[in-house]
Amino acid sequence: MKPNVCVYPGSFDPVTLGHLDIIKRACAIFAEVRVAVLNNPDKTKAFSVEERIAMLEKACQNLPNVRIDSFSGLLVSYMRKTGAGIVIRGLRSAGDFETEFQMAQMNSRLNESVESLFMMTSPGYAYISSSIIKQIASFGGDISAFVPDCILPEIIERFQNR
Ligand code: PNS
Repeated sequence: MKPNVCVYPGSFDPVTLGHLDIIKRACAIFAEVRVAVLNNPDKTKAFSVEERIAMLEKACQNLPNVRIDSFSGLLVSYMRKTGAGIVIRGLRSAGDFETEFQMAQMNSRLNESVESLFMMTSPGYAYISSSIIKQIASFGGDISAFVPDCILPEIIERFQNR
């Protein structure tokens, strides 16, 4: 049987409109899109894994075929455990390509039943990243064009209180 589930893994610290664009486009192809938030120990994250999941749940509330989950350890172990075979990732630039190429090759070496598929980012989102949004927010800049409206207040609040 052909797969009808894909996994969209990432840090989502926080989810951006670029991520949401990939999620929506994956929803048009797959019956279920599992957004998997990485929960590896990392003190540099601005939001806890619970906060990141809650923001994704809000941002995806109108997308019935999206499921938000988290994983720790290796992505290939999560794929094996959940029986999913397809990883979706977005590509914004040649820089992304270098990193993604290496990750896809390594994931396939670690678990050859994992297939990585890539979506080119939609033109309006090529320059958006969670890191640049956090930097702008930390200096009080306007990030409203880059993140879902429903999570904008909590991102602003997090950086106001730092
Ligand atoms: O949003 P990000 O930070 O670009 O996502 C990167 C992510 C989470 C997909 C990647 O770092 C990952 O899969 N980490 C889990 C650990 C792992 O499997 N490492 C080997 C990948 S080659």
